[in-house]
Amino acid sequence: MVISNVCCIGAGYVGGPTCSVIALKCPNIKVTVVDKSADRIAQWNSDKLPIYEPGLDEVVKKCRNVNLFFSTDIEQAIKESDLIFISVNTPTKTFGNGKGRAADLKYVESAARMIAEIAQSNKIVVEKSTVPVKAAESIMQILKANQKHNVRYDILSNPEFLAEGTAINDLLYADRILIGGEDTTDGHKAVEKLGWIYQHWIPKENIITTNTWSSELSKLAANAFLAQRISSINSLSAVCESTGADVSEVAKAIGLDSRIGSKFLQASVGFGGSCFQKDILNLVYICEGLNLPEVAAYWQQVIDMNEYQKTRFSQNIIECLFNTVSDKRISILGFAFKKNTGDTRETPAITVCKTLLEEGAQLDIYDPKVEPEQIIDDLTHPFVTESPECVKKSVQIHNDPYSAVQGTHAIVVCTEWDEFVDLDFNRIYQSMMKPSYIFDGRKILDHVKLENIGFHVQTIGKRL
Ligand code: NAD
Ligand code: UGA
Repeated sequence: MVISNVCCIGAGYVGGPTCSVIALKCPNIKVTVVDKSADRIAQWNSDKLPIYEPGLDEVVKKCRNVNLFFSTDIEQAIKESDLIFISVNTPTKTFGNGKGRAADLKYVESAARMIAEIAQSNKIVVEKSTVPVKAAESIMQILKANQKHNVRYDILSNPEFLAEGTAINDLLYADRILIGGEDTTDGHKAVEKLGWIYQHWIPKENIITTNTWSSELSKLAANAFLAQRISSINSLSAVCESTGADVSEVAKAIGLDSRIGSKFLQASVGFGGSCFQKDILNLVYICEGLNLPEVAAYWQQVIDMNEYQKTRFSQNIIECLFNTVSDKRISILGFAFKKNTGDTRETPAITVCKTLLEEGAQLDIYDPKVEPEQIIDDLTHPFVTESPECVKKSVQIHNDPYSAVQGTHAIVVCTEWDEFVDLDFNRIYQSMMKPSYIFDGRKILDHVKLENIGFHVQTIGKRL
């Protein structure tokens, strides 16, 4: 059997871009992305896609309604597909057992139940979502226990490694594709079929296969290792600030050791995004469940260091502004968790804003891609404030960086958007209160130039 019909459940940051690239590279495969959110599907079918991702618009425009379809008709899509990606969200549980740590698998489970309910022919079911080790076993049990017709299921693990902001490039030129499956004849056949899809554009030697559990664990491990590098360099940034060493110089010096490598050593206000924290918490929870407390504590420290970094940076702003920001206006440049995305999930900007708001500051926020409603939603969330009305009064959202800095006491750079580097800082300095402060949480600005203009500059990992 050649795969000719693919369905993807979940039209989010992963399902949308991944299936768009599959459609682009496999013109003979019909790809249907379904979601329970009619709103999201309507956006995928409109001129303004629900997510901002460089290069995505072009791919969608080329394939949409040719061999790429976005639909709410989940039943139809499941029925006609040979292979189904489950690409739903797997957030951290907010209630009950494992609250704040375990992955909430209710969306994965409901996707599996829908498949069991609807499928009338054999299906390869692919875990694309990031899940705990052994999740495939639960999916199989649900499928088998609920199947309506006599259908054969093969379950594969095929975790996604794309990063937001570079998703299309990451998908087109993936370092590797990982496929985990059962070590049986049928398992091997299923792995081969999924591999065949990727071979349309990924060299065969970059498609690696493992057993299902290794594949599931490798996804958690990859994110844990990446986040660990950031926490490691951020921990050293604190040492640099206390000693006169410069963390960029340290990162360069160690990164040139080919065993260490230079990537992911950019000290920052802290890492954000929907996955690093969630997936490490998930790993910690799994380790605790396996009675491996030392291993759990080891990985927990990566999260703790990130919290420390975000808090340390935020507190430093208050200290520098004479220990009071009450009624001071502070400009926040960048709200997304990284550049080239409009995503704000777990963005460090929330911690910075929360700390400043609690101290009575007035915030003027600018981000080129985050919708104003999203910023207000994030800052009025019950985790952030008990008084949303006060927050709304203290926050102004701007659609231009110059208006966001006008009349403020300080600028805080929370996201490394390229456009911030090229701002006219002479003009900005003239429009600000004096003394004028800049807190560069991303180390992207020219600090010497700013000091020459007259700014007081503070950054991560370097005493200025
Ligand atoms: P997302 O929240 O953007 O999208 C998930 C979508 O699934 C939502 O639109 C939701 O409405 C839909 N959904 C949930 N349950 C459904 C159901 N039963 N039927 C139909 N639709 C349903 O999430 P995301 O960022 O795309 O992440 C998806 C998974 O991929 C997560 O497990 C995540 O950890 C993993 N992942 C994410 C990234 C990333 O960069 N965001 C990268 C790699 C892996
Ligand atoms: C990350 C991984 O890079 C992807 O491989 C993975 O698929 C994805 O998580 C996931 O599972 O969701 P993403 O979170 O989109 O991707 O973005 P990253 O580029 O990894 O950045 C994460 C955070 O770390 C951002 O806040 C970024 O600013 C920060 N970061 C990154 C640093 O502070 N320093 C660095 O050197 C690199």
